[in-house]
Amino acid sequence: MGVFQVELKRVVDDSYEIEIGFGLEEKLLTDLQNGLLGNRKKLALITDSNVKSLYGDKLREMLLAAGFQAELFVFEAGERQKTRETQARLEDEMLAAGCRRDCGVIAVGGGVVTDLAGFLAGTFARGVPFVNYATTLLSAADASVGGKTAVDTPLATNLIGLFNQPKKVYLDVNAWKTLPKRQISSGLAETIKHACIARPGFFAYLEEHMEALLACDPAACAYIAEENCRIKYQVVMQDERESGLREVLNLGHTVGRAIETVSGYGLLHGEAVSIGLAAQALLAERLGFLTAEERHRLLALLEKAGLPTAIPPKIDREALVQKLYTDKKVRDGRLRCVVQKGLGNVVEFSPGVFSTPVEEQTAREMIFSLP
Ligand code: GLY
Repeated sequence: MGVFQVELKRVVDDSYEIEIGFGLEEKLLTDLQNGLLGNRKKLALITDSNVKSLYGDKLREMLLAAGFQAELFVFEAGERQKTRETQARLEDEMLAAGCRRDCGVIAVGGGVVTDLAGFLAGTFARGVPFVNYATTLLSAADASVGGKTAVDTPLATNLIGLFNQPKKVYLDVNAWKTLPKRQISSGLAETIKHACIARPGFFAYLEEHMEALLACDPAACAYIAEENCRIKYQVVMQDERESGLREVLNLGHTVGRAIETVSGYGLLHGEAVSIGLAAQALLAERLGFLTAEERHRLLALLEKAGLPTAIPPKIDREALVQKLYTDKKVRDGRLRCVVQKGLGNVVEFSPGVFSTPVEEQTAREMIFSLP
């Protein structure tokens, strides 16, 4: 019998633009007319029940008027819906509507929508292109940029997913004005995370401009949209698949993701990340990478942003400790944490290694020391 060598080396160019602006609907249309998704005319707009009436309907009408075949596929808003079941339902609806390999996906919404739609696009008809039209600060700060797409499972968040880069990301800062204050705060948690890992000057900017940001001041919002993007894409360009540096974007997420699941998604992602940032700050202080004063500045900034820094009373702390072990960074059964170094840097534990093993006893102390 013979052995056949299947030569399939690839050179891939997944580069894409992130466009930031106030009202980018017309820009999306022009880009599609200019071939952003090739000559595809059939477009599946995936959105949620909140964003449908704010952006979904008008984008569909605009695309129909321009000669595209655009259909809306809508699911109920909220992290609880970011599941394989929702994905399957949307896929069946798209198939019933005649979508096949020749369609393109436009994700319109926040992080739940862009995560779910990007994952769906990665496997629908073995993969169709997609763009993200991000309407929340959280998706602008993190979710819509960088190509991580996923759904949650009952065990934990984002365990089933793909690295799948969009063809373009639109960050429509106008849309933030439509958000409830709680959602703005949630997005600010990822923004504060970026400041913690990357730039003391950005941390100081957030301290000075928090009131303006909470009031959706256009100049302050535009500034943080750009700064979030700059910080995130510089990491992703160096380490798309998280083999090293990209781990830094997980600051606060070991505890954050676990608490989000244990709360039954009663906490928003950013609220959970905020508590996770407070938890890793305790570890950073104990390891000598953060002073008590710096930790208190971080807590003060999170609180100023309207974010929690204490574990809600109804959370079972022991269940939370166990849930930490569902984190994707767990290696050989050991927890790993990213740790900040001062207010604007992270610890590189050895060349290219940005997380450190944490013993269960230390993790338990961290969880039980939080207010
Ligand atoms: N949200 C973390 C990352 O994109 O890597």
